[in-house]
Amino acid sequence: MPLNAYSEEAKKICLPWLFDSTIWNEFRFRDNDIVIAAYPKSGTTWTQQIVSQLIFDGEADLDVATLSPWLDSLKVPKYQKFAQLEAQQNRRFIKTHLPADALVYSPNVKYIYLGRDGRDIALSLYYHLANLSDDEKKNKAESELIPESIQEYYNIWLDRDGYPFISFWQHINSWWGIHKLPNVLLVNFASLKRDLKNEIERIANFLEISVQEKSWESILEHCQFNYMKAHADKLAPEHGMFLKNGAQTFFNKGEAQRWKTILNPDEIHKYEVLVKEHLSSDCAYWLETGLLAE
Ligand code: A3P
Repeated sequence: MPLNAYSEEAKKICLPWLFDSTIWNEFRFRDNDIVIAAYPKSGTTWTQQIVSQLIFDGEADLDVATLSPWLDSLKVPKYQKFAQLEAQQNRRFIKTHLPADALVYSPNVKYIYLGRDGRDIALSLYYHLANLSDDEKKNKAESELIPESIQEYYNIWLDRDGYPFISFWQHINSWWGIHKLPNVLLVNFASLKRDLKNEIERIANFLEISVQEKSWESILEHCQFNYMKAHADKLAPEHGMFLKNGAQTFFNKGEAQRWKTILNPDEIHKYEVLVKEHLSSDCAYWLETGLLAE
């Protein structure tokens, strides 16, 4: 088994109704594979679309949900995903929601880690839970919590650190701990919102993909929120099969700092206290702004 970044073996994490980290133990990497990693709701799907556009030179209408599966998910059988990936002749790009220490690590693979302000993640997760299909709600672990309001969910998510998903602070810290490795690139939702072209260029440089001048117009168009929502059947994770009103629901607002218009000062303060408790000041600054302290 390949070595993990931190220890000799990747830590096992499993939420039986959602994902299992050990799936990666059976996956055969190719040199130059790309892994796109993020805590849920951080901009994973957006980055998968960016990378698809770089690999396929701005091609329209790609089925990114199939091309770039969420490997650790239990919702699609692992052997189906392995077979689809094995058949690909293009450079492969694979999604994970695992913290770095639960993921099998290869020095020959490039890792892109997405960050987003936790307050926006909590709002986005609330919307996700509130829009699950009835089939999905039958799943006990997720249906245990169908929150009454954004505020209620925000508080539970903070008090129970990531509930019903996995620890948020541990996720950020695990990736922050290896972000200086040459094959790891940090990307932040706030930076994507601030200057999409610059961020796509940064990602292209990291992946050693040169973009032809004539391709920029389509690449940028295909990475816009409205384009992605309109093509949600092919772009939403697992084609949005877990949502009650179809794949388009996956793309809600696509905003940064939406929390400012929704949370009250006490709720904001609660998050700030936890940030100080769990993150270094450099990491906290990056998470909120997308900027790395000098
Ligand atoms: P919201 O729920 O705030 O709208 P992930 O793919 O990691 O689960 O992240 C999903 C979030 O990314 C959703 O946030 C979704 O709308 C947002 N998103 C996806 N594509 C986007 C784009 N092109 N522009 C802005 N936000 C986007």
